[in-house]
Parts: sequence; structure tokens; C-alpha cells
Amino acid sequence: MHALTVENASKTYKSPPRPPLKAVDNLSLHIPEGQIYGLLGPNGAGKSTLISMICGALKPDPETGSIRIFDKDVVRQTDQAKQLLGIVPQEIIVEPAFTVEEVLYYFSGMYGVPQAERRKRIPELLESLGLADKQHDKARSLSGGMKRRLMIAKALIHKPRLLILDEPTAGVDVSLRQRIWELVRQLNAQGTTVIFTTHYLEEAEQLCESMTVINKGKVIKEGKVKEIQQEFSQNIISFELYQSEVEHLAGVRRVGVEFELPFRDLVQDMRGLLDFYGDNLKSFRNEAASLEKVFLQLTEGGPTP
Ligand SMILES: Nc1ncnc2c1ncn2[C@@H]1O[C@H](COP(=O)(O)OP(=O)(O)OP(=O)(O)O)[C@@H](O)[C@H]1O
Ligand SMILES: [Mg+2]
Repeated sequence: MHALTVENASKTYKSPPRPPLKAVDNLSLHIPEGQIYGLLGPNGAGKSTLISMICGALKPDPETGSIRIFDKDVVRQTDQAKQLLGIVPQEIIVEPAFTVEEVLYYFSGMYGVPQAERRKRIPELLESLGLADKQHDKARSLSGGMKRRLMIAKALIHKPRLLILDEPTAGVDVSLRQRIWELVRQLNAQGTTVIFTTHYLEEAEQLCESMTVINKGKVIKEGKVKEIQQEFSQNIISFELYQSEVEHLAGVRRVGVEFELPFRDLVQDMRGLLDFYGDNLKSFRNEAASLEKVFLQLTEGGPTP
């Protein structure tokens, strides 16, 4: 079964007198159970809008097919769907006047977690998120990174089968980022499906097997991270020149201080490159494209010359 099924979802923001904006445009996603799955896309791609529809905070456009968490429809079976889902939103939201422990106690009540389970679960979560020594502190007194940890704890309190994190590592320090990655891996090993959005491509490379790239509300690429990298890397020779202000071979494009040449036949095109640039060629290589480059090519139609 899929942990998340999105079928032809659309969301149009209407704020007259401005023209309506289709932030999510007939988008479909099928995310298998058991994965750590990356949702990537530039600012304004529609990721958070999609997540708001998934958690029921935003109503999809009427023509939307359906959104299901496992087999529960988020519109028609909202309460059951919510029990299966934990969401960590992008914006930091905490209950300022409550202590860390009280916040978690309150949320576990909302999800109907039994008392005995709460007493066990809350300290466990606080421990694993490095918040144990803050349990009696008011949420408002926590640092930004600690507030984010508290939000993650809140999302996990009812042991959801699907956890969605909207940019969990934006603005957090290196040690917390590592801790969040560790936690994601741990939860996944225990059977939780995890979907997260990020702008850090390194994160997708490190954590997920598969990913979807969205732009302007539409899916523009989906598949296994490794395969997407390969697809974009197989046919490129990257090289550096001593003197770059020279005439270039047809098809060569500049990427920062380097140049790239797409090729059909590696050996033949390498010879062509050596013949053309001769002693001006400083170095060359043929390697897997970084996800960074893949992303730019997908969302901006290629690296800028
Ligand atoms: N409440 C709203 N009213 C009107 N327009 C909105 C609203 N929320 C988002 N938008 C617009 O919808 C588009 C998608 O925004 P969204 O927040 O879903 O993008 P995102 O992919 O999460 O971006 P980011 O990576 O910056 O978080 C943007 O153009 C945004 O300005
Ligand atoms: Mg967002």
C-alpha cells in the first residue's frame, strides 16, 4: 500500500484583485510505504501548499481527485487520516505559555494516547531530541532550534505511520541537522514512512532513495535519486582551462569556473576536446552530476552560461 497517494491535486489561491494563483497544479504523487522520500523544489514551487492539503489545513480545489494517507481520504475521513499522520510545518509554531512537557502532554491527549503510554513516551521523545533538560522550561524560552525539536516531538507523540517534515533542517545548526537525520533514519528503521522537503540537495542524497522534484505546482521529475543523478551525468565531460577567454568547441557551456561538454561517444569526444584545446586543457573528468546541477537544469532549464 502507498503511504501517501495524491491524485490530481490542485490548489488555487484567490486573493482579488490579484489574478488567481494555481500553487499546486493537477499534481499526482504515489509514495510507497517504508521509504524516506524527498520532495524538492525551489521557493514557491508549491511544496508547503501541498503539505497543507495533505494535513487538511487547506481545502483542495473541487476538481482534485483525492489525497489519501494509507487508505484514509483526508477530506472524507479526516480524523482517521490524522491519526496516521505526523506533520512538522515549515513555520515555527509553539505554545509559548506552556512548558515543553505540558505541550507534549496536551498533544498526546488530543490524539488520545493513553495515560500510561504518555508517561513513557514523553521522556523518551525528549531524550531522543535532546530536550530532556528543558522539559520544565516554557516553550517561549527555547532557542529556534529547540523549538523545532519540540515541533518534531509533537508530530511524533502519537507514533504516526507517516511523518512529513517541511524543511526540518532549515536554519538549524550542524549538530541538530545530524541529529534530525539520525532520528529520521531511526524512525524509518522502525517502520515509519518519512517524507521531507528540503532545498539542501545533499540531504536528499544522504537520506532518500527516491525523490520528486516539483516546480510551479507540477511534478517535473521523479524517481530514484541515484538514477536521476545518472541520467544527468552519463553524457557530460567537465573540464577546466588555464585560459578561459578563448574560442570554444561547439556545445561547450560554462558552469562557474568549469566548462562542460555533453558527449555521445566518450573516447571520440575526449579526443576532440584534447585536439581542440591542446595545452590549454588543465583538467577533465567524467563523473556523476551533483544533485545541485540536476536541480538547476530541471528548474531553470540548464546552467547559465
Ligand atoms: N495563503 C496564501 N495566499 C496566497 N498565495 C499563497 C499563499 N500561500 C502560498 N502562496 C503562494 O503559492 C505559491 C507556492 O507557495 P508554497 O509556500 O507552497 O511554496 P514552497 O514550495 O513551500 O516554497 P518554499 O520552498 O519557499 O517554502 C507561492 O507563489 C506563494 O506565494
Ligand atoms: Mg514551503
